[in-house]
Amino acid sequence: LEILIRSAKSEEAEAYAGCVIACWQAAYRDIVPAAYLQYMSAHAEEWVDKYKKALADPGGGYYCAMHGDKMAGFLILDWHRAENFWAIYLVAEFWGMGYGKQILDFAISELSRAGHREVRLWVFEENHRARRFYEKNGFGLDGVKRVVDKYGGVPLVELGYALRL
Ligand SMILES: CC(C)(COP(=O)(O)OP(=O)(O)OC[C@H]1O[C@@H](n2cnc3c(N)ncnc32)[C@H](O)[C@@H]1OP(=O)(O)O)[C@@H](O)C(=O)NCCC(=O)NCCS
Repeated sequence: LEILIRSAKSEEAEAYAGCVIACWQAAYRDIVPAAYLQYMSAHAEEWVDKYKKALADPGGGYYCAMHGDKMAGFLILDWHRAENFWAIYLVAEFWGMGYGKQILDFAISELSRAGHREVRLWVFEENHRARRFYEKNGFGLDGVKRVVDKYGGVPLVELGYALRL
């Protein structure tokens, strides 16, 4: 079964939040403190509220990857924020099947079509799967690094990656 990438609808906020939380819990199991990942499911309504607002703008850059009726992943291309915000996530059962590449190609064509000339994004230094994925697909480290300290009191290093479109 193929995946279909499309804009997420505001009435899908609950499924979107569930997908985000499931993706985070799998992707960051050994990176983000467990207490924060547990907090996400225990307070899922905070994420539902957040996505109700975010998905209300159909041009907001919030996409979902549908595998039949199941939300298999999500893509965020929020170029309205002060700093561009990029996210690609799949639920763990869909990793390693080429879907990530399919979402990446979609993202690149959307951004090119909108006239953007480059993508910059942040990846946790310890997120080796994602770093390999980006490096295999033409992204390079751009030499910048930052520390984020908003996930359970443990500072995490993020590396900047860039791709010319
Ligand atoms: C990073 C992520 C989006 C990549 O997506 P993906 O679908 O797993 O990536 P792909 O399948 O396109 O490529 C991954 C691997 O599968 C292999 N692959 C590609 N097509 C395949 C196919 N049809 N069948 C089997 N394997 C395939 C690729 O060669 C690649 O191999 P590698 O492990 O040596 O790198 C995904 O793993 C993910 O959601 N991770 C968690 C969230 C995350 O960290 N996101 C990034 C935040 S910055």
